[in-house]
Amino acid sequence: MAFPKNFLWGGATAANQCEGAYLTDGKGLSTADVMTAGDAKTPRRITDGVVAGENYPSHTAIDHYGHFKEDIALFGEMGFKTYRMSINWSRIFPNGDDVEPNEAGLAHYDAVFDECHKHGIEPLVTLSHYETPLGLQKYGSWTSREVIEFFLNYCRTVFTRYKGKVKYWLTFNEINCMSMMPWMAGGVQVDADEQTRMTAAYHQFLASARAVQLAHEIDPENKVGMMYGGMFSYPNSCDPADVQANEEFMRTNLFYPDVMCRGYYPAYKLKEFERRGIVLPEQPGDKDTLRAGTVDFLSYSYYFTMVCGKNSGQAAIDCGSVNTGYTNPYVEQTPWGWSIDPYGLRYSLNLFYDRYQIPLMIVENGLGTYDTVEADGSIHDDYRIDYLREHIKAMKDAVELDGVDLMGYTPWGCIDIVSAGTGEMKKRYGFIYVDVDDEGNGTFDRSRKDSFYWYKKVIASNGEDLD
Ligand code: BG6
Repeated sequence: MAFPKNFLWGGATAANQCEGAYLTDGKGLSTADVMTAGDAKTPRRITDGVVAGENYPSHTAIDHYGHFKEDIALFGEMGFKTYRMSINWSRIFPNGDDVEPNEAGLAHYDAVFDECHKHGIEPLVTLSHYETPLGLQKYGSWTSREVIEFFLNYCRTVFTRYKGKVKYWLTFNEINCMSMMPWMAGGVQVDADEQTRMTAAYHQFLASARAVQLAHEIDPENKVGMMYGGMFSYPNSCDPADVQANEEFMRTNLFYPDVMCRGYYPAYKLKEFERRGIVLPEQPGDKDTLRAGTVDFLSYSYYFTMVCGKNSGQAAIDCGSVNTGYTNPYVEQTPWGWSIDPYGLRYSLNLFYDRYQIPLMIVENGLGTYDTVEADGSIHDDYRIDYLREHIKAMKDAVELDGVDLMGYTPWGCIDIVSAGTGEMKKRYGFIYVDVDDEGNGTFDRSRKDSFYWYKKVIASNGEDLD
């Protein structure tokens, strides 16, 4: 058997994309709650507070808040060993800087974790997944060092409250998105310059390192991982200029796991900062904090690979943009223009395992696309099964042939949820269909797609039966 016996098969979601109930039980506003819906062509907008008449997908989403028992029961039916979810920070500290936590928010997640355990599911919790309390804007969000203390207060509260119920934690979702989408990554304005972004990232690194130490102090059983947004690219050709451009592009993202897995900034990044006049807001003791707070494991999302080369343009390289100016002619693309490259998953697993030699986990992967509900209610998503099968095969090769230490696999949007990138519902990833449209209309009924039964078999056979 390729996968270890305790392999964590499961699925993943994020609170702001599934919970809805955006002001229920004392929840405060988060950065996600002021993002309007968009689509593949119209980007999402950030409004100044909640503006009447705008469509904010996080406000209702799929109402997982009201349906979590039903949803977790369905995950249990598929045989999930783990459920990756996030705690919505603004349910616990509605303004971010409150002195006391909101008991109703804490009680909600108690109920969620109890439900998971009832079904034999180990929760894997992201502490901050694309939502920062909006109240922290008055400090400048993550550009301010003060926010580290508010985050740690939140961490201390949940590590203590859920001791014994949760042992797997991730600090910041796709932390490298601070370079590309700083609002989503941490409430930093989208037009912020590189100095501001790097300051915010620095504060998140410190916060994560301290959270790792805190989690270990509160419960030595805790395992804390980092979460990298899967940006991987190939050089456009063997022209050394393409190879160099690609390496520079990769480094704009790879320095994030370098810091979090090794405990210090890599030399190439420090040299780049020097050349560009970027100064880290370092204080005495920070270096020790980073070194003492390296993560227990590295988790990441993997959807696609990119191509980068000498014509990518400095802007694309500087911010690690998805738009590198090249399309890989050797692989297919989804209707949303994401390349489908299962081999890239094996490539990335080897890249990381060679680089850090710590356990890895794929906490997001999947095909976001249109689904059709047949007259009898069935959904034949063989395209999704094909996508997942090929990616599981690639993980299998990495484990069996390359010896990568892989802990688990939680495909994204295991139940249909709102897209983070576009705010659409019709870009669906789930094994479970939810009857809601882009405007938030529908019955909110759940139904099993063909992939539901397929994934159940995959889990039951520990990844041996992929037919
Ligand atoms: C990852 C995020 O970038 O990709 C998720 O962590 C997101 O929050 C997922 O939903 C898929 O992207 P999208 O834009 O299709 O929702």
